[in-house]
Amino acid sequence: MTANNIFESTHPLVAHKLTRLRDVETTPKKFRELVREMGALLAYEATQDLKLGKRQVTTPMGQTEGAELAEKLGLVPILRAGLGMVEGIWNLVPNAEVWHIGLYRDEDTLQPVEYYNKLPTAPTVDVCLVLDPMLATGGSAVATVDILKNWGVSKIKFVGLLAAPEGIAALNTSHPDVDIHIAKIDSHLNDIGYIVPGLGDAGDRQFGTG
Ligand code: PRP
Ligand code: URA
Repeated sequence: MTANNIFESTHPLVAHKLTRLRDVETTPKKFRELVREMGALLAYEATQDLKLGKRQVTTPMGQTEGAELAEKLGLVPILRAGLGMVEGIWNLVPNAEVWHIGLYRDEDTLQPVEYYNKLPTAPTVDVCLVLDPMLATGGSAVATVDILKNWGVSKIKFVGLLAAPEGIAALNTSHPDVDIHIAKIDSHLNDIGYIVPGLGDAGDRQFGTG
């Protein structure tokens, strides 16, 4: 992948945790912990260009000019699996707003089906991080970015754990303005739309279902 809006993490902690996440022996409890931690590490990379304003601060030793975030951040987990990525990022940016989008993939057509969207009429945030561990065909991510652009947000980034090249291409073709931050781009999709080597079903592994 050569586009300059696709960021595959090179961080050793991400690579280490991803290997444990993939492991078929990893329990749901540990899996949730890893998803939470990796979400935070990737969001740290994805937020490096947030705009700052100036803020005076009084320290015990005097005054200095400091900084504060000038853009309101929205976290947009795609239900269900994206939920596990929220908490770690929220710890870093406690005043971020969280707006849930419910989509599931029809298992026959692999097309996303929307079932939850309570966005208010006007946008309340400046920047959205779309959170989903898996970017497979890309259908769910493209649909979510469509929803957010219709809402009125123009600065949108996708933050995920594993992608197939097919999903990266689909999202980048439909929304070339959306940065993609991903722990790893895997080999391919199999004939039922799963990422290979992947980690299996990210929702089922977090929630102990399936
Ligand atoms: C998974 C995953 C993504 C989607 C990715 O969700 O969490 O949302 O599939 O596939 P795509 O790129 O081909 O759209 P799933 O539909 O299994 O729902 P779940 O999170 O509720 O398990
Ligand atoms: N959704 C998952 O949870 N895993 C995949 O490999 C593809 C889509």
